[in-house]
Amino acid sequence: MANMGYMKLIFLGPPGSGKGTLAARVVDILKVPHISTGAIFRAAIATKSFLGLRVKAIIDAGHLVSDRITIEMVKERLAQADARQGYILDGFPRTIPQAEALDGFSTVDKAVDLDLSDALVLERLSGRRICRKCGFTYHATFNPPKKADICDTCGGEIYTRDDDREKAIQERLEVYREQTAPLIDYYRKKGLLVEVDARPTVDLVVENFRKALGL
Ligand code: AP5
Repeated sequence: MANMGYMKLIFLGPPGSGKGTLAARVVDILKVPHISTGAIFRAAIATKSFLGLRVKAIIDAGHLVSDRITIEMVKERLAQADARQGYILDGFPRTIPQAEALDGFSTVDKAVDLDLSDALVLERLSGRRICRKCGFTYHATFNPPKKADICDTCGGEIYTRDDDREKAIQERLEVYREQTAPLIDYYRKKGLLVEVDARPTVDLVVENFRKALGL
């Protein structure tokens, strides 16, 4: 894949549409950091930091962390040296106020929307498994580890996220429809929206992404 220079990308799309999986596949090629707000929150929960203790119940229930906390966290992260030239922001912004705040402290080159139906979201999230040590994402059916419950790459333990239970998934989809889906129009009106069909295999989604961005 040709590198077309540093880009500031945001990944939109419902929970489980494959934002993290796609980001992990293209991050080395784009040579920008992959910044996932969900991953930052989960790391804070794992270390039982003040932030982690505040957000754990909210995330497990499938609700959104407050705009104030999230915006502040992203603003600090984007000020770090590795993110100044470009980044993939995965899972931020998720509300109109977050998008407006981002406009105040960064420019965005493209907003990539990964489109997937609720039925496929449910199938992907209920089968998702993650390595506790290195964070690699598996799927029980589509991409299982070679040995059950053990990470192929680092030998870490594989677990299911607390917010990947059906009740929390339904809540996340509801929150997505109400608060995050309006961002599609927000970025379309700015002429920044790039739509990628998230239904095919991971290799094809990477290919669709590449074509959609003209890489
Ligand atoms: P976050 O971690 O961002 O969760 P999410 O948006 O719900 O996204 P996911 O990580 O669930 O899915 P994904 O799209 O990355 O899919 P993945 O690649 O894993 O956020 C978690 C929580 O943190 C939020 O609910 C909220 O509480 C809080 N939060 C985060 N950001 C916030 C913000 N900005 N404001 C407020 N609160 C915030 O893929 C899913 C599965 O499908 C995997 O098993 C994978 O192997 C498989 N898969 C992927 N692609 C394919 C494919 N093409 N074919 C088959 N299987 C595939």
